[in-house]
Amino acid sequence: MTSFRTLDDLGDLTGKVALVRVDLNLPMQDGAVTDDTRVRASAPTILELAAKGAKVLLLAHFGRPKGERVSTMSVSMTLDAVQAVLGKEVMFVPEVAGPVVAQAIGILRAGDIAMLENTRFWKGEEKNDPELARAIAENGDIYVNDAFSAAHRAHASTEGLAHLLPAYAGRSMEAELKALEAALGKPVRPVAAVVGGAKVSSKLDVLTHLVTQVDHLIIGGGMANTFLAAKGVDVGKSLCEHDLADTARGILAAAEKSGCTVHLPYDVVVAKEFAANPPSLRTCNVHEVAADEMILDVGSQAVEALADVLKTCRTLVWNGPLGAFETQPFDAATVALARSAAALSKEGALVSVAGGGDTVAALNHAGVAGDFSYISTAGGAFLEWMEGKELPGVKALETA
Ligand code: 3PG
Repeated sequence: MTSFRTLDDLGDLTGKVALVRVDLNLPMQDGAVTDDTRVRASAPTILELAAKGAKVLLLAHFGRPKGERVSTMSVSMTLDAVQAVLGKEVMFVPEVAGPVVAQAIGILRAGDIAMLENTRFWKGEEKNDPELARAIAENGDIYVNDAFSAAHRAHASTEGLAHLLPAYAGRSMEAELKALEAALGKPVRPVAAVVGGAKVSSKLDVLTHLVTQVDHLIIGGGMANTFLAAKGVDVGKSLCEHDLADTARGILAAAEKSGCTVHLPYDVVVAKEFAANPPSLRTCNVHEVAADEMILDVGSQAVEALADVLKTCRTLVWNGPLGAFETQPFDAATVALARSAAALSKEGALVSVAGGGDTVAALNHAGVAGDFSYISTAGGAFLEWMEGKELPGVKALETA
């Protein structure tokens, strides 16, 4: 694994200013944060730096204000949640650079924490403008990146700063990189990947990369329909990207060439309408889907067979649900397979890493998120990592 400086490389920081990039892009409803997972992930880093005596300045984006000050996207919207998680008062500073920040630093004592304004209020952030990065760096002594979930963005606060100050991976970043290395970098084989979700088109690069990396690729969700259709199966009125049939066949051919077994469902749960517990609900063989039916979940026999596949594997990486899991009973396959994976992980038989978009919600729904070996806090960054892409925020932290 490439090496990174971590907080272990830091001694006493009394009198020093640590600029810490965290991800405070938190889901909100009616002005309140609805999920503080990302804050909890970075709390150990923030508190450790404070305990070492640093004045800790948090840098983060919130939403996509596109270089303008948008009051509803002030990162101060997350202040209460951050203070609650840290159990400490956090000073809010409505700038990211310049004299106002310098003044705040003058007021802070060793071990105090401040939150700087949304980095994306400045146009230079997304352009990775060296001038903005320099202005931010001027107020700091070290830079710590603890935002793996924003590391796919080459922005001033995620990439540029790492070149201007001594740069360190925070604890959450370190844990993410270790877990991801164990899952796809140098995994213990055999490796299985579960990829679900609605559309092949949104995960083309993920699928193309994974077939060259894993021994078993389990495809579920709407995207399985596209593969089934490409193999000549009539999927009725299921969600299906018929125009991607050639692409799907190309992925299957690449898998065969690499020795990757692709698992598609052979029994499926279908209904005539997409609603909770619809009267037309039934389970059938994939070859028996009627013209007016749609596939909404993987069938129970296929799930059993997939659980048997997982029993033969040592590593699992999971992204996306197997069915329309938000509507009952189309969560059944996701819940059942997630429970099998969790049980194997708990026994120590499987290293399981999950992340990206709906995945964490699906695993929480199955009540097993705590039993997976590692759950990433990242959405887009997790997908880009699954595509085999180098993440600029991670690359910038690498030491020679
Ligand atoms: C996320 O929420 O996944 C990250 O914070 C990145 O946000 P972005 O997609 O707006 O860059």
